[in-house]
Amino acid sequence: MKLAISLSVILGASSLFASQSLISKAKNAGLEAIPSDKVTLMKLIDTDKNDPITTEKVELGKKLYFDPRVSRSGLISCNTCHNLGLGGADGVPAAIGHGWTANPSHLNSPTVYNSVFFKAQFWDGRSPHLADQAQGPVQAGPEMAAPPALVEQRINSIPAYVNEFKAAYGNDVKVDFAKITETIATFEKILVTPSRFDKFLEGDEKALTKDEQEGLQTFLNKGCTACHTGIALGGTMQPFQIANQYSFTNVGDFKGDENGMVKTPTLRNVTETAPYFHNGQIWALTDAIKEMGSVQLGIEINDTDAKKIETFLRALKGDKPVITYPQLPESTATTEKPSFD
Ligand code: HEC
Ligand code: HEC
Repeated sequence: MKLAISLSVILGASSLFASQSLISKAKNAGLEAIPSDKVTLMKLIDTDKNDPITTEKVELGKKLYFDPRVSRSGLISCNTCHNLGLGGADGVPAAIGHGWTANPSHLNSPTVYNSVFFKAQFWDGRSPHLADQAQGPVQAGPEMAAPPALVEQRINSIPAYVNEFKAAYGNDVKVDFAKITETIATFEKILVTPSRFDKFLEGDEKALTKDEQEGLQTFLNKGCTACHTGIALGGTMQPFQIANQYSFTNVGDFKGDENGMVKTPTLRNVTETAPYFHNGQIWALTDAIKEMGSVQLGIEINDTDAKKIETFLRALKGDKPVITYPQLPESTATTEKPSFD
């Protein structure tokens, strides 16, 4: 009896010790939690002193995010390609936009969840932050195809929208293209998804199962955190095809930025955002993991290890903010009509 008790004490203590050292190992590798403390989290995401996050802006930004009238056809919203019910992505290899046009470089829609933590936006990192980023897709021919003047006309022709802009920014607000896209970006900032992994990093050893911890161990041992690190486990520019050529490098013409660097995708919610890679050519997560071993690390990851890593990545699926589908203010007689050319 006595022996059994002391054994269990020792075993309990040693597994506790193992988890704790795994936590420090993960932190030393640069992995960071989404803070559970709301004040700390707000400090991280509410960084623009000239444009602080407020409830009014978030609610208005949400409407605009879901409003297809921000597109030329009146059919495509941000949520078409960054579907908040589908992990913030669209589940197709290359994004399809205005006039059923596929992205000309065969680019896959990245998730918008946790994009506030990225150091660079777009696959080639050409945009530094969300407000700047949001101007791109609205205008882009193969996405929403709406010139700034059209978007401004539509929104300003709807008095309820204008009033909401006034409530959010003050009576003398100019509802121009920059303001509209900035407001969408403010909404995007709150799209963060804390998971059990964050609880684990914050010291709750029980938050991840044994198998998930083993997966994390494998993820660390293989060297994935050389790039998939920080809060987003991604979001920085990194060299691509370091050790070997990517198997589908010939699909589309994307070559990274001028130095061949590619924005590392976040691994949060990654089980929800297949197909993978910039051109969406790999559907199974274990295949994507093996491909990474070959392309980026020059190692062969066997089925067992790929499965282990997948088990860890599954634990990165986070709690999504609860979003009530917004009722959008109605168009008026002067609202520019949809066009399909
Ligand atoms: C037709 C599909 C489509 C629509 C509509 C669309 N996007 Fe995107 N989005 C994409 C694609 C594809 C990319 C990657 C493009 C690139 O890297 O050049 C992207 C990139 C992004 C990124 C960068 C994320 C990252 O990881 O780099 C954000 C943020 C984003 N879009 C937000 C928005 C917002 C806000 C809207 C609405 C104003 C919007 N998107 C409309 C397809 C779309
Ligand atoms: C040297 C940097 C680097 C290392 C090391 C690395 N990755 Fe990546 N990872 C990237 C980049 C960059 C991409 C995007 C490549 C592209 O699509 O062009 C990526 C893409 C991925 C994707 C696809 C995500 C998506 O949404 O499309 C997964 C999954 C992934 N990595 C997992 C891993 C795993 C697991 C490891 C360790 C075995 C690893 N990576 C090692 C940089 C890296």
